[in-house]
Amino acid sequence: MTGLHAAAQAGVSSPAAALAGSPADAGLPAGAPTCAQILAIDAVRGENLVPNEELIGPIDSTDEWIKSRTGITTRARANPEQDVIDLAASAATKVIRRAGLTPDQIDAVILATVTHFYQTPSAAAILAARIGAVGAAAWDISAACAGFCYGIAQADALVRSGAARHVLVIGAEKLSDFIDPADRTISYLLGDGAGGAIVGVGEVQGIGPTVWGTDGTKAELVGQTRGWLEEGSGQPTLIQQGPSVFRWAVTQMPKLAKQAMDAAGIGASDLAAFIPHQANMRIVDQLVKVLRLPDHVVVARDIAETGNTSAASVPLATERLLREGQVRPGGLALWIGFGAGLTYAAQVVRLPASHKRDTNEEHDNNKE
Ligand SMILES: CC(C)(COP(=O)(O)OP(=O)(O)OC[C@H]1O[C@@H](n2cnc3c(N)ncnc32)[C@H](O)[C@@H]1OP(=O)(O)O)[C@@H](O)C(=O)NCCC(=O)NCCS
Repeated sequence: MTGLHAAAQAGVSSPAAALAGSPADAGLPAGAPTCAQILAIDAVRGENLVPNEELIGPIDSTDEWIKSRTGITTRARANPEQDVIDLAASAATKVIRRAGLTPDQIDAVILATVTHFYQTPSAAAILAARIGAVGAAAWDISAACAGFCYGIAQADALVRSGAARHVLVIGAEKLSDFIDPADRTISYLLGDGAGGAIVGVGEVQGIGPTVWGTDGTKAELVGQTRGWLEEGSGQPTLIQQGPSVFRWAVTQMPKLAKQAMDAAGIGASDLAAFIPHQANMRIVDQLVKVLRLPDHVVVARDIAETGNTSAASVPLATERLLREGQVRPGGLALWIGFGAGLTYAAQVVRLPASHKRDTNEEHDNNKE
């Protein structure tokens, strides 16, 4: 399998190399093209696994309806006192440690979220300070359920260009802060959590080209009940036109998946894992069917227990497969994110070469 190597060769050269071509900068070293890899992945889920029975009253639903239509049996919800930055900070600390780094080695912090209550400052700026990465460049991405894959695209480009050596990419959501328990369109799907990756310099390219985009003509399909300044009681909450989003996902995402595999120079049989956004188990099943994934490809089904966690869903699902030993470290995974915007992004990545048990975490837990 050479596709990801080919992607690296076609990649962006470093700024030094670009400048070296001009006479004014003739003294700068030429530099070699840099490769980017996923060095580590880790995640945290909301501590409370809330069963369907606890939510069905206000939406006049049943456990059976939710299970059969969505595949969800529980969703992970955080404690009330935790906010989205708390979740992001826990995941960030774990993934930095897993990569064998210290926070001062992080050059950029990219946080994908739609559940930070402040327009400014960014959640990423606060996150960077919280974890001890003061001085790192830090910014938020608002791309909903595609946010993590957007962040990986940015991190890949930053590392390959030489602008950063280690980029922390976090997808974090406390969606339970944006729920109307009586809303029948989306509230019961949503969970809380944060997952992240360290993208760093590698010997070979481990991130395939990102295929991405948006379709703002469908912006009304997923979003808030109203703007912050519009009249209404309480804060805005989330709402969607579920069946339209469902149809869009099952017709358009298979094309995106194929484009990402083509761009990486691989076929479905080269994959170790298929890890799409965890929006609905029926969407996952339909994608597997249309893509005709071979039996050996492990399919992420984290939604059953965790629910839909928007920007956190792809790294959370990846972390579960690695932690439970369902997928071999170092294998190829296809990541796909899609959601409000409508936004979408997909890339083939090589999973980190190892994913040993975090003994520090065990030690921390034992102390509690
Ligand atoms: C939201 C979603 C689970 C709804 O499932 P669905 O099968 O499309 O359901 P529908 O809205 O077509 O409704 C089917 C029936 O169930 C009823 N229903 C809808 N929501 C219900 C609920 N929460 N509980 C019980 N019944 C419900 C409807 O009234 C309808 O009844 P009818 O047949 O008597 O008219 C599904 O559309 C979905 O997952 N969409 C995509 C979500 C997504 O990817 N979002 C992206 C942002 S992350």
